[in-house]
Amino acid sequence: MVVPDVNVIATDELALRAAEKIAETLRKVTEVEERACLALAGGTTPRRVHEALAARTDVPWPLVHVYFGDERCVAPDHPDSNYRMAKESLFDRVALSPSQIHRPSAELLDRDAAARAYEALLPARLDLIILGIGEDGHTASLFPGSPALNERERRYIPVVGPKPPPERLTLTPPALETAGALLMLAVGAGKADAVARALEGSWDPQATPSQLARRGSWFIDPAAAGLLVGAR
Ligand code: 6PG
Repeated sequence: MVVPDVNVIATDELALRAAEKIAETLRKVTEVEERACLALAGGTTPRRVHEALAARTDVPWPLVHVYFGDERCVAPDHPDSNYRMAKESLFDRVALSPSQIHRPSAELLDRDAAARAYEALLPARLDLIILGIGEDGHTASLFPGSPALNERERRYIPVVGPKPPPERLTLTPPALETAGALLMLAVGAGKADAVARALEGSWDPQATPSQLARRGSWFIDPAAAGLLVGAR
């Protein structure tokens, strides 16, 4: 029985505490490994966490390699690009060389080839995957009922999802399952139902893909925790 590590944190403290957790995890990895491989989440929630992470002085950036848990199939300077959000909130603020930032070429027309090329440069195991959760219970770009949830061989694949923009590349369940650590971020009452289903609902990742992060650390604000029985 997986007992999730659930941290209910005041909204205005959550970014700082999540950044602290990320820095701590990266330091622990680099104590025993030559590099720490971090996958970022997309969407809007991570922005403030990235900014808080960039403000810290205890992150072993020279040893960190950054990947993307998912990416929208748009140009890297498009407003919907997860790379653009990460560049603005993190890469432009810390000492990461271009060789340490691994962006999926999600803008290419041949999305399957782009996914395969990206999979080829993924490490055998990601040390930390940061994730977000959608109101429908998706995580990364693994959406409820998606065939991607049945993928057991490939670690990065193209999908079409209900959240615009629909065409995306995403880590698959095997990639999440083999990661060293998972950090789920959730803020706001809109996520409360999905968080409760993910953490306390009967096991059904087809319906609630974010259950795949149940073994991880969850950093959620009181509103997102509002329907949890266990957190009261
Ligand atoms: C994406 C994300 C997605 C996101 C959730 C939450 O590219 O859309 O990877 O999984 O994390 O939809 O998004 P918000 O943080 O914007 O609520």
